[in-house]
Amino acid sequence: MKSLKTESLRTLESLRTSFRKVGQDHVFEHIEDLNAQELEAFIEQLNSVNLEALSELVKTHLLAKEKDSTLDWELLKPAPYIPTPAQGGDPAEWEAAHELGEAAIKAGRVAAFTVAGGQGTRLGYDGPKGTFKVSALSGKSLFEIFADKIYRASQRYDVKIPWFIMTSELNHEATAQAFKDNDYYGLGEDMVSLFTQELVPAVDLNGKIILENKGMIAMTPNGHGGSLSALSKKGATEKMRAMGIDILSYFQVDNPLVPCIDPAFIGFHLSHQSELSSKMIPKAYALEKVGMFCEYKGKQIVIEYSDMPQEMQNMKDANGGILFGAGSVAIHLFDRDFIDRIGGVSGDESLPYHKALKKIPYYDPQLGLVKPTEGNGIKFEMFVFDALPKSRNPLVIEGARNENFSPVKNADGIDSPEACKQDLKRQAVRWLINAGEAMKLNADGLVDFNFEINYRFAMDGNDFKKQWTHLEPKPEIKEGTIIGS
Ligand code: UD1
Repeated sequence: MKSLKTESLRTLESLRTSFRKVGQDHVFEHIEDLNAQELEAFIEQLNSVNLEALSELVKTHLLAKEKDSTLDWELLKPAPYIPTPAQGGDPAEWEAAHELGEAAIKAGRVAAFTVAGGQGTRLGYDGPKGTFKVSALSGKSLFEIFADKIYRASQRYDVKIPWFIMTSELNHEATAQAFKDNDYYGLGEDMVSLFTQELVPAVDLNGKIILENKGMIAMTPNGHGGSLSALSKKGATEKMRAMGIDILSYFQVDNPLVPCIDPAFIGFHLSHQSELSSKMIPKAYALEKVGMFCEYKGKQIVIEYSDMPQEMQNMKDANGGILFGAGSVAIHLFDRDFIDRIGGVSGDESLPYHKALKKIPYYDPQLGLVKPTEGNGIKFEMFVFDALPKSRNPLVIEGARNENFSPVKNADGIDSPEACKQDLKRQAVRWLINAGEAMKLNADGLVDFNFEINYRFAMDGNDFKKQWTHLEPKPEIKEGTIIGS
């Protein structure tokens, strides 16, 4: 400690006082063992902690007597939504929305945005989730698939479409390296902006900050809801403003089936003057693990499956369908100024925090770093859909599951890479049939060989139909074919 600069020593003392005041000075327990460099790094980390906010979170989420639920479930209703033409929606209205959306894209008003700051622990993959390879033949990663779709939209509408990606300190370096190594997936470095979200200390079940090392606090990303302040404070909305962009197309890193730029969705968002629009897909079964769009006291909200009582999730509507059947698949459109209002420096409408019990690796003086097998700590997260009740004219439109949602979440079974590969192949088969090709299908409605459509060739079914019609010569569709490569 002697080799520490006087200024750092002073900072250390004042930090110790602040942490002591809120009962968190155990974090200094091992500082005698740190060398000067480690101590400097620790001081920097301690300085980044918003102690006041953390204490408030611990007080309200851990120490206060648990309230049963702040919701009066009796008042909860399903949120209204615009159905697809296939489900009774007005085809002319969809056509008009499509045209309006296309005009906005052409006018350069739209940017793409991926939240990729999560830890992706369920998949058991070590790198940033976006670098996980999902396509069966070309071995393209999630990031590459999104880039292909954005590339095609830019080409189709002859416009620059920037792509913002939110990372966290935990995966930023590796993500940035992947973009560099892959030459920004062909989009051009100037069209890709990566920025980090904030981290929050993890605490144990008594609200004490967890140390992951002698001189390091265990920090976790503050949830995808942290994207609004990150977008606003890290220069993304400023860049959008400078480029004349006012619509941000938001999607999660785990879903390669998402249409990154969806003209009809954008058109509805504009015609309804919505600040925050969302896509829903009808739930596949009552207890499917997705959030549900609901209406509560005149406001639109999303209730997580883990929060809604099962008997409510099982309730039927008048036609025998699932009453709370509008599944949230985390596909949204944000109005730029709304992002600034909620997440901006001047905005004071920050989102609420949720707590989650997690296995947080911690430092033990005898054992070193311990990776617990049971939940031992609390992670605080904001959810982006908590912005819905704060938005003007929030709108929900329906999307077909097979054209919007096939996330890679688990190593096996539901939402696994294997299931996703099948869904991507199913889409390719569908697009070909829609374009007039006769396909010999097996009992699963699929073909027995592997082939792919390059999303640089076509970004959606209609686009594919046009592209395919003009493609000469057409490749034979057989094992190994990559259309548009
Ligand atoms: C989420 C939604 C759920 C929805 C489902 C659809 C929540 C709480 N639930 O569930 O309503 O039906 O997706 O697939 O969101 N992320 C960050 N920073 C963070 C945390 C997460 O960027 O701090 C990103 C992840 O990288 C990922 C996305 O947010 O892209 C989703 O995170 P995840 O925690 O996996 O959500 P789910 O529990 O699958």
